[in-house]
Amino acid sequence: MEKTSVEMSSKNRTGIGMSPVDSQRMIDAAQAAPPSSSGDESALAKLDSVYIREAEPVGSVPPPGTLKGMAQATLQKLTGKHPEVLVDKLGERLAFERTGTRLYDYLINKCETASEAGSPISVDTLKRFRREEAQHFKLVAKALESLGADPTTQTPGADVSAVASSGVLQIMSDPRTSIDQSLEAILTAELVDHAGWELLIRLTSEMGLDDMANDFRTALTEEDDHLMQVRQWHEQSTLSHAGVSAI
Ligand SMILES: [Fe+2]
Ligand SMILES: [Fe+2]
Repeated sequence: MEKTSVEMSSKNRTGIGMSPVDSQRMIDAAQAAPPSSSGDESALAKLDSVYIREAEPVGSVPPPGTLKGMAQATLQKLTGKHPEVLVDKLGERLAFERTGTRLYDYLINKCETASEAGSPISVDTLKRFRREEAQHFKLVAKALESLGADPTTQTPGADVSAVASSGVLQIMSDPRTSIDQSLEAILTAELVDHAGWELLIRLTSEMGLDDMANDFRTALTEEDDHLMQVRQWHEQSTLSHAGVSAI
């Protein structure tokens, strides 16, 4: 079945122009009832500041369960630095890559169920991307273990990034969304994914963890491909639906 992302229909009555008489009455009513209290948004910002000052952090990074697994050379490199920052970002990447495989699962199923004639998207390529996200997950788990950290820990960064990407997951799992809309959602994820790997490479290089940085460069090369391909499919598909360019 073909599912188009955009169709024209008078069922959409969300715009004010759908009923000029009612919209004028609504404007009149709003103007006739000004706010009952004085002040502006600065009072709200002031109250917010109280909460910001008093709030506990989102979470913490536990101390390493065992240093036995950590090579002596690694231990020396990290002396005087803050490896908990790296563990936090690795925990974040781990969670993101795991979610990434789910995102591709949804997209693969959507493409196989609602494939469009002449679609530029290759399901085989999507399956490869899914495999690569899973491999990246394992790579990060291994990196965490080499630092004596527990890969099953939810770090604060993992928590925050899960909240940030929850909208992407909702779009992907919604049966009503089109392939175009799903591609745009996955593009959001891939842009963050790409930046996340670049940051990890910088962080591990600066900490002198060269082997880890090299492993991560291989992952970034694959993420380059994901980002370029998803962006291209999204662009081609949108242009084609707009009737300005044939696929
Ligand atoms: Fe990824
Ligand atoms: Fe990716």
